[in-house]
Amino acid sequence: MILSACIGTNADLIKNAFELYVKKGSTVADVTFGKGVFWQKINKEAFKLLATDLQTGVDFRTLPYDDKSIDVLLLDPPYMHGGATVKQSIKKCYKNSGIGSHFDIVRLYAAGILEAARVLKKKGIIMVKCQDEIESAKQRWSHEEIGQLLDLFGFLRKDLMILMQKTEPARRFDYQNTARKNHSYLLIGELR
Ligand SMILES: C[S@@+](CC[C@H](N)C(=O)[O-])C[C@H]1O[C@@H](n2cnc3c(N)ncnc32)[C@H](O)[C@@H]1O
Repeated sequence: MILSACIGTNADLIKNAFELYVKKGSTVADVTFGKGVFWQKINKEAFKLLATDLQTGVDFRTLPYDDKSIDVLLLDPPYMHGGATVKQSIKKCYKNSGIGSHFDIVRLYAAGILEAARVLKKKGIIMVKCQDEIESAKQRWSHEEIGQLLDLFGFLRKDLMILMQKTEPARRFDYQNTARKNHSYLLIGELR
């Protein structure tokens, strides 16, 4: 049974989402392929994988695909603005697009979702990975904002899956004013 929340890694989360939403033989564009963690528990041979990333010279805001040519698109941009409490390994991702604030994050997601709406076929599926964050002591509910972007750009929200990490989030200070976030989201939309 596929549940709305799981404990594990991105590989577990994406495997669950594929079982429900991706037919074998689909053309899948992973436009933020990175190290390919999403694919660790998926049989790549069963799909036509188009793996790109800024690091391979393809910006997801201007994809080299025809209109309405893709069945499924995976979007996993940098999800946190750069900050002192952010792990170095995560920060490496940020440098690619010069992200300084939460607004930069939202703009990046917006541009990616808009481009997805161009290249996806009708009823095509977008899977968007994100995590909420705190900026200057303010809660930034990224998953809500991205959900609204999906609505605005013509996607039907099909699912919201939650991943809880096994390890504790990195921290700089011992004190805390709000709950530290150890969960992230996968929003799944269908193009109308
Ligand atoms: C959170 S990581 C993605 C991790 C990936 N899903 C994996 O399984 O390894 C964010 C990725 O977004 C890429 N990126 C950032 N801005 C981008 C852009 N404008 N176009 C394409 N890729 C971008 C970075 O190079 C980085 O690989």
